[in-house]
Amino acid sequence: MLETKASKAPPTIYLKNYQAPDYYIETIDLHFELGEKHTTVHSRLALSRRSKTDSSSLVLNGEELELLSIKQDGQVLSTKDYHQDSESLTLLQVPDRFTLEIETRIYPQDNTTLSGLYTSNGNFCTQCEAEGFRRITYFLDRPDVMARYTTTIVADEKKYPILLSNGNLIAQGKRDTGRHFAKWQDPFPKPSYLFALVAGDLARIEDEFITRSGRKIQLHMYVQFHNRDQCDHAMDSLKRAMAWDEEVYGREYDLDIYMIVAVDDFNMGAMENKGLNIFNSKYVLAKPETATDTDYENIEAVIAHEYFHNWSGNRVTCRDWFQLSLKEGFTVFRDQQFSADQGSSAVKRIQIVNRLRSYQFREDAGPMAHPIRPDSYVEINNFYTLTIYEKGAEVVRMLYCLLGTEGFRKGTDLYFERYDGQAVTTDDFVQVLEEANHVDLSQFRLWYSQAGTPELRISNVYDPKASTYTLKVKQTCPPTPGQPHKAPFHIPLAVGLLDAEGQDLPLQLAGEVEAITGTRVLELRQTEETFVFQNVPFKPVPSLLRGFSAPVKLYLDLSNEEYCFLLAHDKDHFNRWEAGQQLAIKILLGLVEDHQQGKPLILDPAFTNTIEKILAGDESDQAFVAQILTLPSEHYLAEFMAVIDPEAAYKARRFLQRGLAEALHGTFTTTYESLAGTSPYHSSPEEIGRRKLRNICLEYLMTLDGPDIRSRCLQQFNESDNMTDVIAALSSLADTESSERKIALQAFYNQWKNDSLVMDKWLSLQALSRRQDTLAIVKKLTQHPAFKLTNPNKVRALIGAFCQGNPVRFHDPSGEGYRFLRDYILKLDPLNPQIAARLASTFNLWRRYDQSRQIIMKEQLEHIVKSLRISKDVYEITTKALG
Ligand code: ARG
Ligand code: ZN
Repeated sequence: MLETKASKAPPTIYLKNYQAPDYYIETIDLHFELGEKHTTVHSRLALSRRSKTDSSSLVLNGEELELLSIKQDGQVLSTKDYHQDSESLTLLQVPDRFTLEIETRIYPQDNTTLSGLYTSNGNFCTQCEAEGFRRITYFLDRPDVMARYTTTIVADEKKYPILLSNGNLIAQGKRDTGRHFAKWQDPFPKPSYLFALVAGDLARIEDEFITRSGRKIQLHMYVQFHNRDQCDHAMDSLKRAMAWDEEVYGREYDLDIYMIVAVDDFNMGAMENKGLNIFNSKYVLAKPETATDTDYENIEAVIAHEYFHNWSGNRVTCRDWFQLSLKEGFTVFRDQQFSADQGSSAVKRIQIVNRLRSYQFREDAGPMAHPIRPDSYVEINNFYTLTIYEKGAEVVRMLYCLLGTEGFRKGTDLYFERYDGQAVTTDDFVQVLEEANHVDLSQFRLWYSQAGTPELRISNVYDPKASTYTLKVKQTCPPTPGQPHKAPFHIPLAVGLLDAEGQDLPLQLAGEVEAITGTRVLELRQTEETFVFQNVPFKPVPSLLRGFSAPVKLYLDLSNEEYCFLLAHDKDHFNRWEAGQQLAIKILLGLVEDHQQGKPLILDPAFTNTIEKILAGDESDQAFVAQILTLPSEHYLAEFMAVIDPEAAYKARRFLQRGLAEALHGTFTTTYESLAGTSPYHSSPEEIGRRKLRNICLEYLMTLDGPDIRSRCLQQFNESDNMTDVIAALSSLADTESSERKIALQAFYNQWKNDSLVMDKWLSLQALSRRQDTLAIVKKLTQHPAFKLTNPNKVRALIGAFCQGNPVRFHDPSGEGYRFLRDYILKLDPLNPQIAARLASTFNLWRRYDQSRQIIMKEQLEHIVKSLRISKDVYEITTKALG
């Protein structure tokens, strides 16, 4: 028999079994005595029965708790009054209304799971989503139980001068022998997953925001003292996000204080606890010398994301965890809209689609594929996925596309008004959008219940005699676990037709009296549909799925000339880029085949020409040009291979990069030199674009690996005043076998060895190097003082980067990479199951590889499943992968 923590296969939880709680908890009074060895938690709950039930017992959630005492309405309970196991506490006989007092002891200093109450750099902090609160005290730890919290924290005054929790500070003072206390009260009822506590010695950065109704909000950021100079960007992003949510969604902040705390040890990006966000320091801290442009953009997005949760997540929350995308999909969509409004919106869209296609599509094609509202789960933490977040946001984006800006806003206004203070479902969300717009979204709801990436196959016919242009669209969706057949989706397909000059033609469908110029949205509802455009004077070039109007795979055969034409002329920036990508994919797949057949690889001169024109062109958005010059990733290329061949994907991509670099050596060099910037650093969109374009030129030139360019690269490394340019140079050098590589890596280490976030970059870029010996280097780095197994950022930077970002080296045919990963999954699982499970999912696509790789990957999965005491988290991932 399999022995897991639960000593047998852990149970599956089903959405269809959802039941409202038997009891509500109106108030909770928490009292923490924080200690160095252990912490005691006293909790007083006011409970009331929701409705008459047969049962007179009450089951509370609780894990890893030492129960010290229980009182029911002031009476001490004895062991015959309750029953306790490793996951719950059952009170055998309880009345309709009562108070319950529970005292528990916990060990935050030994808590390596980073769920519940734990310490990071000696400071206390919490992470309660999804089910961490039950590791603090016994409770109805489910989002549909919303209580008013009062929290008293008592701790040593010297070690922990800062004591924080949700809401407003209502009392503070001294206690005996060097201890002090703070009492916080949150006026808004909330689910337990939004509870937070912080205690420590931290610097406070203060600012304020005046809301549109004139209320003054205190903004406090807490970081370690040596990081005080790195909060400006986060603070500025926060204020812009607050103003944006007022303007775009009419949402104003509600408490008088908003706090953000940065911690180094954190499982995810950040957490939206009411009034007290806790962040992975990676998404707060930035200064030009240590943070890249990408870091700056990520901080802006995550700060906004957590702030937006105050309405989409906290004021209106989820009924149960199957509804996770209700808050996450919507909030990601909101942060994407915000980011798009801050800079180049085309480039932002391209980045979103790249991530979706490289990673979410893989999830949809594997054993963990799930709808954005899953039907079941074993461990909810395994469902904080790209599907829930990123595809969830795409689904909301489609609603926005179908309803228009005004219609969508009418819907969200109604949503916030009607459900304020409640825990609701994705279906409630769709329903208010329907109601506010008098539309029927019943077919659209399939996006919530069906998994998988729909595929559109489109053929086109031009009839010169009738002057008609016909698009035939066929939609299918491949089977996913538990869903062999799918009903057709309701899909918005944004289209334009280009004339010979590249202008958008007026579009008039059969039966329509008037033509509309520009993009129009066709609504697909059937498996097969035909659209006939009239009065089309000549054969147009179709521009389909503009702006990536739906998260689907589009198959449309265009000639290379047509792709080049779209790349040069399409009014839709996203589709200009997309034409270049699809052309590159076509070329790369040809090269893959040639490589597999042992044929010599040949560069297509037409493609070189196209790239040259773009480099020499007059496009002013340099970030956009840089995106066009970035070839499709090895991961995205793999999507198009029946059997994934990581070696061929890498070789083909590298050949194309080198070929272009050789052929366009002069152009890349002049572009690179002409884009040299001036100090000091600016993080404006224009400057970000300039650095991006310049660094992609460097990347191309460095594939040639000549001594001149290497020394130019080293010069950039030495002379840059900002981390973006330093990292670009160092990444390229790390890929070479040169002496410059050694010099630069060492110099970088010496300079930054005390900055943990910068050291993450140092680890990552070595793990991502395509050098033959990268695995050996990575293994050595696991023993380096810069690496720490208990810190998720380190694990992601080194092991995650190697296994998930370096396919050609991870998938080495020897299987060494696979065995390395297995060892680390097993080492991590007892420390931090959430992170171990993330790593384990790297094996999910094992069936897509050749026989011999399949055999070795499967062996590793079986080895893990057979190991003693694996967590629920890893158990679910590995058994589903094998299933
Ligand atoms: N709600 C957080 C967010 O902003 C994610 C936290 C999830 N954490 C976890 N351990 N499952 O997206
Ligand atoms: Zn979120």
